[in-house]
Amino acid sequence: MSAIRVLFVDDEPRVLEGLKRMLRPKRNEWQMTFVGSAAEALTTLKKEPCEVVVTDMRMPGMNGAELLEVVQREYPDTIRLILSGQAETESVMKALGVSHQFLSKPCDAEVLQGTISRAFALRDLAGSEQVKGLVARINKLPTLPSSYQKLVDVLKSPNSSIEDVAEIISTDPAMTARLLKLVNSAYFGLQKPVADVARAGALLGLDRIMALVLGQGIFSDCDAPKVEGFSMEALWQHSVSTAAAAHRIAIVEQMERDVVAAAFLAGMLHDIGKLVLAMGLPDQYAKVLKQAGNARPGELQQIEMLELRASHTDVGAYLVGLWGLPNTIAEAIAYHEDPSQARTQAFALPAIVHAADRLVYRPDITDPRSPELGLNVAYFEKHGRIDRWNEWRDAVAAASGSPQGSQT
Ligand SMILES: [Fe+2]
Ligand SMILES: [Fe+2]
Repeated sequence: MSAIRVLFVDDEPRVLEGLKRMLRPKRNEWQMTFVGSAAEALTTLKKEPCEVVVTDMRMPGMNGAELLEVVQREYPDTIRLILSGQAETESVMKALGVSHQFLSKPCDAEVLQGTISRAFALRDLAGSEQVKGLVARINKLPTLPSSYQKLVDVLKSPNSSIEDVAEIISTDPAMTARLLKLVNSAYFGLQKPVADVARAGALLGLDRIMALVLGQGIFSDCDAPKVEGFSMEALWQHSVSTAAAAHRIAIVEQMERDVVAAAFLAGMLHDIGKLVLAMGLPDQYAKVLKQAGNARPGELQQIEMLELRASHTDVGAYLVGLWGLPNTIAEAIAYHEDPSQARTQAFALPAIVHAADRLVYRPDITDPRSPELGLNVAYFEKHGRIDRWNEWRDAVAAASGSPQGSQT
């Protein structure tokens, strides 16, 4: 494997020296360049593009956010990170708009190495260069106008609480993903990544969410793709149902509390890759959807691989990984169509989301072995859970009324 090219930009020589020293152990794996200004960074990139750019925020001349804006435009598949000591809300928000992740100074070697390696490892998942580029280009995801309007109404009403706000956000995969990207940025300095919308909302607070949504319009700046055969409403409905079902299954299986919360999030975001593909490759994806027609669950993924050399599972995993969401969520997204491929051998999130997805697709099927369902029967047998199917069905139906069958 060729070395990953990483470019570090900071106007303070001391900081660059520190980074150099700290990252010495990586010198065989990464080809590192250190420069003192945005202008130098752009000259360097012109000579040789890099896979990763890590920049300071406040610099004389062009600042970090402005630099990344240019990088995003001219080298769209570059992974863009901000490493900054500056933590005023407004500049963090600006930086988050153009960067994949925001790290705060001082940053220890482990965090920095981990972030770069992880973003890069996930990049390999995304398949062809074309698909890698299209994921890295995406900073925003469209929201449904109806849920956005609901959120605005609640935020404007004097009696609403942070719980009301979190509840609306958790009915919309795009708002959810964006909120978690923000909260998991180092701006909040959390020890462990957050995989729970309610917690993310509480951490941000009502005032900050209000400023972000009403003032900065973080959820209202992107239109839904118009792709034949693709319906964002249907995808959203399926995502919300899968989230609720995964949550239920995790409770019934007595998983730990943080797994229960993460199950909801993983269910919510499991098919976000479909949106990314529809946005980035509208014509090709329309063809894929046409071919898939009423195919069984699981078959769409095969068609995507054949036609695009990438699938919604990998693309979704790459996106959330790049945005700094927890690894467990990226893994659940990557393997929700086939949990046997996951690295974790234990019965965990990928399997829960897989079951939830199939259950939402065909709530009428009582035999989990029915080929119509496309469930990985061998996997659930191996884990001794195949007989749990009907208990899950009942629990999900009881919690939601009877879920409607929809796309997978
Ligand atoms: Fe899927
Ligand atoms: Fe699905």
